[in-house]
Amino acid sequence: MKILFLNGPNINLLGSREPDKYGNKTLKDIEEFIQKEAEKNNISVTFYQSNIEGELVNKIQEAKGLYDGIVMNPAAYTHTSVAIRDALLAVEIPTVEIHLSNIHKREEFRKISLTAPACIGQITGFGENSYKLGLIAIIDYLKK
Ligand code: DQA
Repeated sequence: MKILFLNGPNINLLGSREPDKYGNKTLKDIEEFIQKEAEKNNISVTFYQSNIEGELVNKIQEAKGLYDGIVMNPAAYTHTSVAIRDALLAVEIPTVEIHLSNIHKREEFRKISLTAPACIGQITGFGENSYKLGLIAIIDYLKK
């Protein structure tokens, strides 16, 4: 089973970026943790982060035929990107949307996710554990 982890804008700044909301772990820390969890389950994981919407769209398009599932934190593009939503709908790869913070507990504009309706589900508010829960959810979905 091959899973692609996608991260949107500013997720490369985790660790120093608003730690009260996003925690102290860096993206590298989270990726290492997920890598170990994946190995325990005999799953192959690949990580990609971009601050550029079109690069994320390209990566989703290229994922067709290469990956069985996607776990994605679209970050700010969650609330704005019709392009990412359309790319997910086009490739039809099962995708779990994840967020570190609980987007429903924050500003009004964050409560709307344009991308979640193109996903099998959303995990939001569990900090770095949202990544682990996303991995568990996609593995479970793909095994059925
Ligand atoms: C986020 C929530 C988004 O609203 C925000 O723009 C982010 C991070 C999260 O993981 O909590 O960049 O996706």
